[in-house]
Amino acid sequence: MKILVINGPNLNMLGIREPDIYGRETYSSLCEKIRAHAEKIAVDTEIYQSNHEGDLVDKIQAAYGKFDGIVINPAAYTHTSVALLDALKAVCIPAVEVHISDVSLREDFRQISYVRAACEKTISGHGTDGYLEAIDYLLEKYGES
Ligand code: DQA
Repeated sequence: MKILVINGPNLNMLGIREPDIYGRETYSSLCEKIRAHAEKIAVDTEIYQSNHEGDLVDKIQAAYGKFDGIVINPAAYTHTSVALLDALKAVCIPAVEVHISDVSLREDFRQISYVRAACEKTISGHGTDGYLEAIDYLLEKYGES
């Protein structure tokens, strides 16, 4: 099974940005954690991060026919991007939305998620473990295909 893990803007600043909210784990240690977990359960992963909405759209489109699942933390674009929603709908690849923080307990503007309508599941507030839970979910549901 092949899973694409996509991270949106400012997630490359993990470990530096607002550690009280996002913790002290760096982006590269998050990537290592995802790779180690995926290897253990024999899932192929590619991890991608961009600060640019169009690049994220391009990456989702390029996943068509190549990946069996998408784990996406669109970061701030969660709350603004119809383009990411449309891209996820276009490729029809099973997707899980992940947020490190619990967005439901934060500002009003974070209560809207455009991408949610194209995702099977949302995992929010489980820290970086949420990425691993999302991979496990996709493997359990689609691993045989
Ligand atoms: C986030 C939550 C978003 O509201 C925020 O803009 C982020 C990170 C999270 O992982 O908790 O950049 O997606």
